[in-house]
Amino acid sequence: MMKSQLKKLKHIWVLNFLRRTFNATRYYNKKYMEIIKWGIASNEDTNYTYDLTEGNMLYLAHIISFVVQKDNKTILAFINEAQNDTFLKDHIIREIQQSDLKKFADQQIRFGRRMGWYAMIRALKPRTVVETGVDKGLGSVIICAALLKNKEEGFEGRYYGTDINPKAGYLLTGKYRQVGEILYGDSIASLSTFKDTIDIFINDSDHSADYEYREYLTIKHLLTDDSIILGDNSHSTDKLAIFSTEEERNFLFFQESPLNHWYPGGGIGISFKTPKTSRQAQNKITPESNTDNTVSMQAASN
Ligand SMILES: C[S@@+](CC[C@H](N)C(=O)[O-])C[C@H]1O[C@@H](n2cnc3c(N)ncnc32)[C@H](O)[C@@H]1O
Repeated sequence: MMKSQLKKLKHIWVLNFLRRTFNATRYYNKKYMEIIKWGIASNEDTNYTYDLTEGNMLYLAHIISFVVQKDNKTILAFINEAQNDTFLKDHIIREIQQSDLKKFADQQIRFGRRMGWYAMIRALKPRTVVETGVDKGLGSVIICAALLKNKEEGFEGRYYGTDINPKAGYLLTGKYRQVGEILYGDSIASLSTFKDTIDIFINDSDHSADYEYREYLTIKHLLTDDSIILGDNSHSTDKLAIFSTEEERNFLFFQESPLNHWYPGGGIGISFKTPKTSRQAQNKITPESNTDNTVSMQAASN
């Protein structure tokens, strides 16, 4: 009697196990299809590119809107501006086609989280943006596109990328090169000789936790209360959150949701000190009055 009841229970457990694990696999099976499609259609073997889901873009806009204290519609307009920049997209496609590294890149241009970098630069009008880790230069050109738009509005800014690979940054040509340059060599070595105050610092080079943290320590003295750090490694390490705690900075994290791609997504760690409203209230700067170099970021008056 006891034996048959145990057997029955075991049987039910097995059924239950199968039902539960089958339900769990439904979250992942779609990914296998996406891997196969990507394996056929894409050339990329690292630094994957993809669009974000519509809802994810809205989340991104809300987070940036909070950090820069501008309304969400303004941030979404900046994101749309980048997405609809056909000159930029044509430039990237042309440079990829001409590059001897084209077999590692796709011809479809998808910016993912870099839209957030773009919107932040458009909103804050920084003078100096540093991005460590350039790869082909997708970040470089979208950042320089934002700086060029700011320039049209009277706010000059300059981009510095760092990369250890002498072939990195082949997309940074043409008009984008006018507002940006790449410092070749080890990122920490380049940052160690950097003299300017950094308004926006993007960490995306050697992705080891230790190296990432050392980059933050290297540029610590170049940060002001208005400086913002964007961590491209924050989905895999907590170093920017730790640095933010040590430096009494706020920290937020945006998680990407890639559209129709197997990659689970990276993110943007955002480290910022003062609420941007107080800075804007203190420094009502317009392009005309923007001659005082003691103010590191050119808060737009709109
Ligand atoms: C993930 S990719 C950068 C992607 C780029 N930020 C973008 O938006 O597409 C990382 C880059 O960091 C560079 N890198 C790795 N270690 C480095 C180091 N110690 N110093 C400078 N660059 C480094 C690699 O050569 C590679 O191009």
